Amino acid sequence: MRKKIIAGNWKMNHTTVEINKFMEELTEAKVGNEDVEAIICGPFPYLSLLVDKANHTALKIGAQNMHFEENGAFTGEVSPLMLNDLNISHVIIGHSERREYFAETDETVNKKVQAAFANNLTPIVCVGETLEQREAGEMLSHIEKQVTAALNGLTGEQVAQTIIAYEPIWAIGTGRTASSAEANEVCVHIRQVVRQLFTKNIAERVIIQYGGSVNPDNIRELLSQTDIDGALVGGASLKAASFLQLLEESK
Ligand code: PGA
Repeated sequence: MRKKIIAGNWKMNHTTVEINKFMEELTEAKVGNEDVEAIICGPFPYLSLLVDKANHTALKIGAQNMHFEENGAFTGEVSPLMLNDLNISHVIIGHSERREYFAETDETVNKKVQAAFANNLTPIVCVGETLEQREAGEMLSHIEKQVTAALNGLTGEQVAQTIIAYEPIWAIGTGRTASSAEANEVCVHIRQVVRQLFTKNIAERVIIQYGGSVNPDNIRELLSQTDIDGALVGGASLKAASFLQLLEESK
């Protein structure tokens, strides 16, 4: 049985006051258990604060991006070595907002995935189609291309440790969730692609999340599907009460 992994993607939201409040509320409640893993991916300036506050809880802290080089002349960038040094466990790679606004490509995504493993970070690799691609019948081939590129050069064991987040772009922040059947169809396809590229055993182990307007009211239905092992959640992860509800509904 694959465990459920719920990851909050705070994007460019929250400063010290909100973060302290969120973490106070979270530590009062018992977060995460053997069946459900909880991760918050916060903004870079607050990662240390989050790691500090999450100490002695089961909450893991992730970043939302990183560079693929460990150091060097890359003004304004943050390296995998730095994230590892801060005790960050996870890193989101290739979110559609990064692909769209910050020129992230399948090639840089692959370099970052490899750099994550070289630095003890678990990558949460995002893939997803636009509405135009879905309507043109190009959805599955597009997803296959993104998954294949992202996993290029990895060992089977690394792939088994990778989290893949299927996030249809038209469902992100729009309030329009893919139906559980629509989401599962693509997650099944992703597992098949992993199976073709690696082995059945690796494909059975890889965690596949759904993301795009997930909230406490729809998460249970989404997670009831055969191939959805968790969720990557933006808006509904910002408040502790809502994040805790997501975890509760995932049990
Ligand atoms: P949303 O964002 O839950 O606000 O739609 C999801 C994401 O972009 O990861």
